Formats: sequence, C-alpha cells, structure tokens
Amino acid sequence: MRKDIDHILYDEATIASKVRELGALITKDYEGKEPFLVGVLKGCFVFMSDLSKEIDLYCDIDFMAVSSYGSGTTTTGAVQIKKDLSRDIEGRDVIIIEDILDSGVTLSYLTKYLENRKPASIKICTLMDKPARRQTDIKADYVGFVCPDEFVVGYGLDYDEKYRNLPFIGVLKPEIYE
Ligand code: IMP
Ligand code: MG
Repeated sequence: MRKDIDHILYDEATIASKVRELGALITKDYEGKEPFLVGVLKGCFVFMSDLSKEIDLYCDIDFMAVSSYGSGTTTTGAVQIKKDLSRDIEGRDVIIIEDILDSGVTLSYLTKYLENRKPASIKICTLMDKPARRQTDIKADYVGFVCPDEFVVGYGLDYDEKYRNLPFIGVLKPEIYE
C-alpha cells in the first residue's frame, strides 16, 4: 500500500502534536461544559479517536454517516444521510468532527440539518481545510492544517475506500488515479 504514495504531507509526529494542540484548545474553550462530539464517518474515524483522547472533559461521542462523493475525487454536490445520531442534541454544545473541509457542501448541509434540532451551539473542528475549492461560505472553528489543493489520503481519508489505514497523510502517485 505504501508504495502507492508519492509523498507525505503530514507525518505521524506532526499530526499527533497538532491533534494534542486542538484537544487542549477544545478542553479550554468548553471548560465547565459537556460537548457532544459528532464525527462524520467514515473519514473522521482516526482523527476522532485521537482527538477525543486529548479532550479532558465529559463528552458524548456519536457519529453520522453522509455521502457526497462517488468513488471519484470531486464532490457530486448531493448529500445523503446514511446514518443519523443515536441521541438528542437539543440544548447541547455540538462539535462536528471532520477529516477535511473541501467544497464545504457536506458541512453546510450537516450544520443546517443539525441546527433544526436546537442545540445550544454548533462548532466545526476539521483536521484539514482545503480553502481552494470552497463552494459555500462555511468556516471551521478549529482547523488542524490548511492544506494545498491536492487529493490526500491516509489517517482516515480514502481514495476509492482504500488507504484509510495509513498512519500519515500523503498524496498518491498520479498513475493510481489512471
Ligand atoms: P466537501 O463536501 O467537498 O467539503 O467534502 C468533504 C468530504 O469529502 C470529506 O469528508 C472527505 O471525505 C472528502 N474529501 C474531500 N477532499 C478529500 C481528499 O483530498 N481526500 C480524501 N477525501 C476527501
Ligand atoms: Mg468523508
């Protein structure tokens, strides 16, 4: 699998220290509260796992599954809810945990969808932000890395459902897409 990687963008140590930083920030910002972490599957699963361990607060951990992508590398624009939350978020301080904010279509949709349930607040924490391709005016409240306009894989992110289990974030060799 690793032979398919052209170059590494963020290695394990770099990611770990960034995740620690984000966790400390959230712990401080939500002092005295019990945030409700909503991970967006499947891409969030590694980040959510590591980040949650760096948050020193009581918190709910739940997941949603949405899809806006086929097997390609660009959004189709349509968002579908495939798995919803298992608990009510009314009055709760929700933090949506995403792997990457790209066009923004997924998070714009999801934020509106969850706002209807009257949470006390909703914030967005994304490991990566790719502002070059934004199609909506959505902004993340917590951003790990502002990343270049390249298709990245690893640390939860896939290409055609593969590479999620790479411990770092990298860019595939161009011939893999062919
Ligand atoms: P958006 O709706 O375009 O913001 O897409 C967000 C979702 O697209 C992310 O949760 C990822 O699953 C996927 N995505 C966007 N960019 C990449 C990438 O570079 N690599 C892998 N998945 C990506
Ligand atoms: Mg995803």
